[in-house]
Amino acid sequence: MQDQFKQDSVTGSRGIERLVSGIATSDGAGVKLTRIIAQPLQKRLDPFLMLDAFRSDNADDYLAGFPDHPHRGFETVTYMLAGWMRHRDNAGNEGLLQNGGVQWMTAGRGVIHSEMPEQEDGVMEGFQLWLNLPSHSKMCSPWYRDIAAADIPEYVTEQGATVRVIAGMSNGIAGAMARKDTEPLYLDIALPAGSVFATAIPATHNAFIHVYRGTVDIDGTAVDEKRMAILTNDPTAEGLILTATVAARLILVAGNPLGEPIVQYGPFVMNTQDQIYQAIADFREGRFADGKDTAK
Ligand code: CO
Repeated sequence: MQDQFKQDSVTGSRGIERLVSGIATSDGAGVKLTRIIAQPLQKRLDPFLMLDAFRSDNADDYLAGFPDHPHRGFETVTYMLAGWMRHRDNAGNEGLLQNGGVQWMTAGRGVIHSEMPEQEDGVMEGFQLWLNLPSHSKMCSPWYRDIAAADIPEYVTEQGATVRVIAGMSNGIAGAMARKDTEPLYLDIALPAGSVFATAIPATHNAFIHVYRGTVDIDGTAVDEKRMAILTNDPTAEGLILTATVAARLILVAGNPLGEPIVQYGPFVMNTQDQIYQAIADFREGRFADGKDTAK
């Protein structure tokens, strides 16, 4: 059955709790990026652990890529707006992430992979979001799915907003991914100047937007390009209503908080320090990931 666009009823909007600018940094073998969510916001934005944005037309900023590195205990969601990135992991899986596509990877008990640019010039732009796993799933079998741009459900509102539903449900349209426990909502929204957009957000969810083109207005406060707005947790608000001051593009991300302890050491995110020591030992001693039941 095909879902049909059906405007969510949103009479009360969440407001802005705080505006956040990212921090310019580099990761991998020297890829320049902006870290928008880092450790100080992990508790507030539970279940989200990290958000990196990358955008450059200078190959020197991205060519070095992300050579072999491990992950354990969470999921990575890589959304490629422009460019080509090849993924390879220790289980022999390989995929090409390209224009408008998403890679959803559940690291579970362990993945060792590389994420390397497959282009020598031109624009590379996208986001990598880290989504936590509940304690009972942190040691699950690794899994991943490459989602081509054409397989991401999209809808257009009466006011001309184009919305890609990567995960969750918005205005009657189910996204490409649904996850238990964290129940993520992940939308990429393109708005014409002057348009108003509304979507429901589950009341229990922590939520934020990140504007990557233009400016939007939420309840009289401007959210400018390259800013994240953490949205209030207002039990009387059914969702979010925003207005595009000029033509704008943004991501809206929301998820159900896990409420569990978060202990991070680099690419390992567990619940206790002992589990971190175990992850380091498993990685060093080659027990990290046999990959046997990694499935596409
Ligand atoms: Co990685």
